[in-house]
Amino acid sequence: MSVCRMDEAFFALHRDLPREGPGQAEDVDWALYTASLPEEVRIADLACGPGADTRTLAKARPQARIEALDRMPHFVEAARKRLAPYGARVSVEVGDMAEVSGPYDLIWCAGALYFLGVTEGLRLWRKALAPGGHVAFSEPCLPPDPSPEVRAFWEEYPAVSGIGGIRARVAAAGYRIIGERMVIGAAWRDYYEPMARRIALLRPGADAALSAVLDAGAAEIAHWRAAPNDIAYALLVVAPDEP
Ligand SMILES: C[S@@+](CC[C@H](N)C(=O)[O-])C[C@H]1O[C@@H](n2cnc3c(N)ncnc32)[C@H](O)[C@@H]1O
Repeated sequence: MSVCRMDEAFFALHRDLPREGPGQAEDVDWALYTASLPEEVRIADLACGPGADTRTLAKARPQARIEALDRMPHFVEAARKRLAPYGARVSVEVGDMAEVSGPYDLIWCAGALYFLGVTEGLRLWRKALAPGGHVAFSEPCLPPDPSPEVRAFWEEYPAVSGIGGIRARVAAAGYRIIGERMVIGAAWRDYYEPMARRIALLRPGADAALSAVLDAGAAEIAHWRAAPNDIAYALLVVAPDEP
């Protein structure tokens, strides 16, 4: 099966989903509050996907300049449509989150810092933070004594750890933790329910490439349903040790 056909199949499933990972507007609001972010600021939404959190940021900080980016043009296109009502103060570009220059008062990154690695990504972003700036990111987080179902869910992310491991990776980057909380339950349901509906819609007549993508999505949802109270992201607001 060609890579191109797999990409097409991936986007057939992921097109029009409201978001590409778990999270809710209240998580964004909590991070803005925890970072004590004033009104006139510059915010980055790195790996913004279809822009759900970018919109929450734009609504919550009407005077902020917001720069969103994602490496996938399909997501950038979707996010641009969604954010058009906010005008020129919100931009969405195709780009690599490893190459941002800032300066930003807040870097928001939901469910994507693991592509760079927590320590590596935070180190890279240090130079893109304005004085007093913060990073808010969510990261897969194991409960104490994870069950086989939870282990199965995170099988494809070998670096997954408990909250202690995440704290250690933050400290290794030279940052301190300002606040942390769990993203669990409803935030995951809001991500998986639209995906389950789309799988059901696309199933009839799916070819081999699309069936493989739908099967993988259905398996992920089944793993989550087996342990919904133990599958979590930790959301952390962090700041460099030396501002
Ligand atoms: C799990 S999704 C999360 C998307 C979004 N933050 C959300 O919560 O809906 C991960 C995103 O990371 C993006 N991504 C991965 N590596 C990237 C990189 N180096 N630069 C920019 N975007 C990246 C993917 O294209 C994808 O949209």
